[in-house]
Amino acid sequence: MVEEASAQSAEVHWQDLDIDKTARTRLHPHRPCVIWFTGLSGAGKSTIANLVERKLYAHGVHTYLVDGDNLRHGLNADLGFSAADRVENVRRAAEVAALMVDAGLVVLVSLISPFLAERARARSLVAPDEFCEVHVDVPLAVAEQRDPKGLYRKARTGGLPDFTGISSPYEPPPDPDIRVDTTAVSPEQAAEEILRALRDRGTLQ
Ligand code: PPS
Repeated sequence: MVEEASAQSAEVHWQDLDIDKTARTRLHPHRPCVIWFTGLSGAGKSTIANLVERKLYAHGVHTYLVDGDNLRHGLNADLGFSAADRVENVRRAAEVAALMVDAGLVVLVSLISPFLAERARARSLVAPDEFCEVHVDVPLAVAEQRDPKGLYRKARTGGLPDFTGISSPYEPPPDPDIRVDTTAVSPEQAAEEILRALRDRGTLQ
């Protein structure tokens, strides 16, 4: 299947188009980027991403939030939680995010995205200053105690195989652009820190 696809790609040529990212970006008072939230289930990724998006929206920024759970209802509905499926899940989300950056948007991605290599690949799809990795960091014990969806309890009792942190690995980013410790700061404080970083990087005016 992969061989077929790569053989075919030799016959497929990139099509240059008249309206490009630079032109699209001129329509917005901000530059496009990906804000990539990674962390354990229950760390607070979606809560913080949602808050950041609300604040950006209030500033007139054109955003889109790509949420792992939501993506798995549509584009990624065929994928489970094996290592191979997670690799494909993150690959598709990264490609979607890169397309949205090309469209001129500020894209927030909220995915466990447990593997270093796939996050590095997501970063490589856009320009270096267009990717901001946010590690929503929380000790496993705290995430497990919060257990907002009851998934850790299910995983511990054998009802949920391949559960991140329990029976499936999570590789923390050694050098994220932003690290948020949700045991120490509120979602509001975390969101403000991310907005400050976006201003410092020149994404927002
Ligand atoms: S991944 O690892 O990036 O492919 O995962 P993601 O697409 O972000 O999906 C994570 C959400 O799926 C639910 N869920 C599980 N998570 C981890 N492991 C297993 N086995 C699993 N089964 C279901 C869970 O609600 C995750 O959402 P969050 O918001 O992270 O809690």
